[in-house]
Amino acid sequence: MKTVFAIETSCDETGLAVVEDGTRMLVNDVASQIPLHAEFGGVVPEIASRQHTEIISQMADRALQQAGTAIDAVAVTHGPGLMGSLLVGVNFAKAFAYAKDLPIVPVNHIEGHIFSPFLCGAPPEFPALALIVSGGHTMLIMCRAPHDYELLGTTRDDAVGESFDKVARLLDLPYPGGPSIQRAAEKGDPQAFRFPRAFEKSDKLEFSYSGLKTAVLYALRDKPDAVHADVAASFQAAAIDILIIKTKLALARTRAPRLIVAGGVAANTLLRQRLNAEIEVPALIPPIGLCTDNAAMIAAAGYSRFHHGFRGDLRLTPNPGLVLV
Ligand code: KG4
Ligand code: ZN
Repeated sequence: MKTVFAIETSCDETGLAVVEDGTRMLVNDVASQIPLHAEFGGVVPEIASRQHTEIISQMADRALQQAGTAIDAVAVTHGPGLMGSLLVGVNFAKAFAYAKDLPIVPVNHIEGHIFSPFLCGAPPEFPALALIVSGGHTMLIMCRAPHDYELLGTTRDDAVGESFDKVARLLDLPYPGGPSIQRAAEKGDPQAFRFPRAFEKSDKLEFSYSGLKTAVLYALRDKPDAVHADVAASFQAAAIDILIIKTKLALARTRAPRLIVAGGVAANTLLRQRLNAEIEVPALIPPIGLCTDNAAMIAAAGYSRFHHGFRGDLRLTPNPGLVLV
């Protein structure tokens, strides 16, 4: 049995976790900074890194005390993300690993999301198609085996979560936009507006979300008395529809035997309902609390990397633009 202590500070969540054998969460502590950034309508990088710095030591002490077990390796997110935020986690992990004489395992944040469905007792299963939908990414990835990935498609411009955040701002809804649009959409008519689905008819596995955001902007300008709940519901319907269309296309093309769906937008109720109703292969979707950023997923991916012999060293530095494939 191996126990991994993991640190995630790529954006605006400080995450510390202790996970056994990559699947059993002993501790998964996330301190969200949402209230600190909400008044600015988005993440302010300087505020994010200062807040990580202020709380990381006490959160780590608490996590290790709660877990009450020996640690075999330290996993840390080294990218992609915000430089100042990543630096806090990576430097903390290096200091901890050095002080305790433990191996350090660098983890790509996206790979953490890919492993997030496996934190509920079931071991990782590959091959799988992964749909990663977050504030920074919209990707279809063929996962042939652990750590063996092929990028099938991504977005040309905005990520899907980013479009929820931007449209929420247009509708004067609070940050983060995903949950507030979902709430507003519950009272709206998803057919009130027919917003564009980019590349709907194309056989390319590509996404684009900036046109959808602009369509919402024009709809609000042309119809100033539009019911905001209808706009939110119609936007959400279009944003989710194209994820379903492209995922079905990728499943047909790859014949992947299972689908992983992860990242903050995987918390979306409409997406979860449509996946359950329309996808024929088993869909592995983490519980809502593990969709948004957390350190348990970094421990899960880190454990697998550790098991496969990957190691970092004290020269490790963050890479804000780190790519998975
Ligand atoms: O994975 P995540 O926590 O951070 C990144 O790696 O980006 O994802 C955050 C994103 C935000 O854009 C947020 O608006 C979106 O996930 N999100 C949602 C929902 N909950 C969070 N989008 C749609 N519906 C939700 N329920
Ligand atoms: Zn994320």
